[in-house]
Amino acid sequence: MPGEKILVIDDDTNILEVLQMRLKAWNYHVAIAKDGKKAKTALSATPFNLVIIDLRLAEENGIELMEEIIGCYPNLPIIILTAHGSIESAVEAMRKGAYSYITKPFNNEDLSLHIKNALEKQLLTKEIEHLRSQLDKQNNFKHIIGNNKRMQEILERVAKIAKTDCTVSIYGESGTGKELIARTIHHNSNRAKGPFVTLNCGAIPEELLENALFGHIRGTFTGAHESKEGLFLQANGGTIFLDGIGNTSPALQIKLLRVLQERDFKPIGGTKSVKVNVRVIVAANTDLQKAVNDGTFREDLFYRIHVVPIYIPSLRERKDDIPLLATYFMTEFCKVLKKDIKGFTPAAIQRMMLYDWPGNIRELQNKVEHAVIMANKDVIATEDIFNSTNTLKNTFNSYRDAKERFEREYLENLLRMNKGNITNASKMAKRYRADIYKLIKKYNINPEIYKNDLILINTENICT
Ligand SMILES: Nc1ncnc2c1ncn2[C@@H]1O[C@H](COP(=O)(O)OP(=O)(O)OP(=O)(O)O)[C@@H](O)[C@H]1O
Ligand SMILES: [Mg+2]
Repeated sequence: MPGEKILVIDDDTNILEVLQMRLKAWNYHVAIAKDGKKAKTALSATPFNLVIIDLRLAEENGIELMEEIIGCYPNLPIIILTAHGSIESAVEAMRKGAYSYITKPFNNEDLSLHIKNALEKQLLTKEIEHLRSQLDKQNNFKHIIGNNKRMQEILERVAKIAKTDCTVSIYGESGTGKELIARTIHHNSNRAKGPFVTLNCGAIPEELLENALFGHIRGTFTGAHESKEGLFLQANGGTIFLDGIGNTSPALQIKLLRVLQERDFKPIGGTKSVKVNVRVIVAANTDLQKAVNDGTFREDLFYRIHVVPIYIPSLRERKDDIPLLATYFMTEFCKVLKKDIKGFTPAAIQRMMLYDWPGNIRELQNKVEHAVIMANKDVIATEDIFNSTNTLKNTFNSYRDAKERFEREYLENLLRMNKGNITNASKMAKRYRADIYKLIKKYNINPEIYKNDLILINTENICT
């Protein structure tokens, strides 16, 4: 794709000249840098499509520089130049995220092929990002995949909650779909035409969080040349989704409590309160009840946000959904990439079912995306999904882990069926109450959450 911008980093002037000439002859735009400092300046000034970097730079470590670049520009492909005989460092570079490597001296054909492939990869990544944002915008229920019984119950509950205006708290491990559920609630509510504003409280430094949420008045602090509207005001008439609520400081928790109670707030440096009409949805991937017990989360705020809790199970607790989700993501990615893949091999499905998915649905989505890009045949095989660092050896659990997983799942189901009532649960399991308590303690489970299941079925009754 001529016209793309390529940055070449090498301390050897001869190589720089040769590369510059060849790349220009192929109609690419080329910039050169002799060291890391110049390279970073160039990268921050112009968006590049590709970087070619020599691993052995005179003054610095090429791999470290490469890692730094990947950290800042994760979607920018990097091709490594390496001397013959130093393949090991090239392999290390690949493991750390380089796209490919070429050994010196290189021939024109090789160089051109590596560049074309890397640029194609960058284009695909961009298209996929676009698709993702498109997918996120379409927030109908049909984009939430899940036949699992617990997921079906959650979706029924979501449909009911959406029509009310109550505060919702969503709990689940990272990547389980908390934001997707929050968006769905918003888009199926009476506020659907209003804004949906999200903030990940854990991703912003504490001192900036208050400013982001409530804004400030001009002249309040050095640099505050203009007044700034906070996210609460931006969400007026719509919904604000606060992810990582468990990461907020006690001072901010007081402010959040006030907005939830009074539906007003004061911007930083302001004297007048500003009224807002906002629905609040919060999410946490930690146990907030435990945080309350530990004294790190305000109890009054907890009860304010814990009006309608939704607990999203991890993917390993709903493995029956894996084939469905994998096929859904495959079909979506095939559409964008214009690939015609029919499905997965039985072995691939089996391996996916055995794997534990610590990153939940996001990890599954990423692995399928990668597999669709890599697949050369019309079915996706195990090795397209799992690379060598992810072998069955790593995913197969020890006997102890497997037993603990069973015990935990059994206990969760038992409590769910008995709505958190320990006496009934112990009868059903034919065990002493003390045994059940012991397990509850061992797995740090809060039986209260299963009581809420009961209330939640009739959410209209408690939401005003
Ligand atoms: N049931 C589902 N069906 C289809 N796609 C899903 C489902 N659940 C999650 N996803 C997709 O998985 C990705 C991760 O979901 P999301 O961002 O909602 O997770 P999260 O729980 O908010 O994660 P985090 O805790 O890291 O913020 C998104 O791309 C989302 O669209
Ligand atoms: Mg999220």
